[in-house]
Amino acid sequence: MKINSAEFVKSSTELKECPAPNKNEFAFIGRSNVGKSSLINMLMQRKDLAKTSGRPGKTQLINHFEVNENWYLVDLPGYGYAKTSKKNRAIFQEMITNYIKKRDNLINTFVLIDCRHDPQKIDLEFMEWCGMEGIPFSIVFTKIDKLGSSSLMKQIAQYKKKLLLQWEALPPVFMTSAEGRSGREEVLRYIDEVNNSITAEMYRKL
Ligand code: GTP
Ligand code: MG
Repeated sequence: MKINSAEFVKSSTELKECPAPNKNEFAFIGRSNVGKSSLINMLMQRKDLAKTSGRPGKTQLINHFEVNENWYLVDLPGYGYAKTSKKNRAIFQEMITNYIKKRDNLINTFVLIDCRHDPQKIDLEFMEWCGMEGIPFSIVFTKIDKLGSSSLMKQIAQYKKKLLLQWEALPPVFMTSAEGRSGREEVLRYIDEVNNSITAEMYRKL
């Protein structure tokens, strides 16, 4: 898919502030610092479209971007950010789960996992929650430039094995590097395929 335009639309603190749910929407979620905002910039080939930071907890709102005047891409705050207050964490958690559960035009959620980390409870639980709620998701292993190819393959095989203890089949899995710009075509091709198969008439509540 060719990206002709990518524009920031707005930042929202809750579902009712989000843009009208009239276009296919893809969200990026995962732990703080996993590389959500960087991946969005890499996909859109824009340096600073989504704000990134070396310090976790940079993205604190639901950020909508409109791509090719045709679909929305959403940058979400990271879950499980430890260095904030318990109350703040609960507020984020609520904001994220409410948005994902109730956003009718949300077609797919990309769950980002740092390829260097062994399976973490918080990610496994989040995916399990998506399964229970019937939320379609895909997995993106990020920062693959940080591992050599054999450790990367080993790490991903182990992760898949762990998931298969819980799931009968795996969702689509992607491997990306915002640094090395890898995985861009695969993710965009997938978005394109999904966009071609789902139209606004098919949204959950319409
Ligand atoms: P929050 O908004 O805090 O939840 O974080 P985020 O998931 O949006 O992460 P962000 O994109 O801000 O990136 C966090 C850090 O990881 C930054 O220092 C990035 O430069 C770095 N980073 C992101 N993607 C990659 C990658 O593919 N490779 C490498 N080497 N570093 C990356
Ligand atoms: Mg971010």
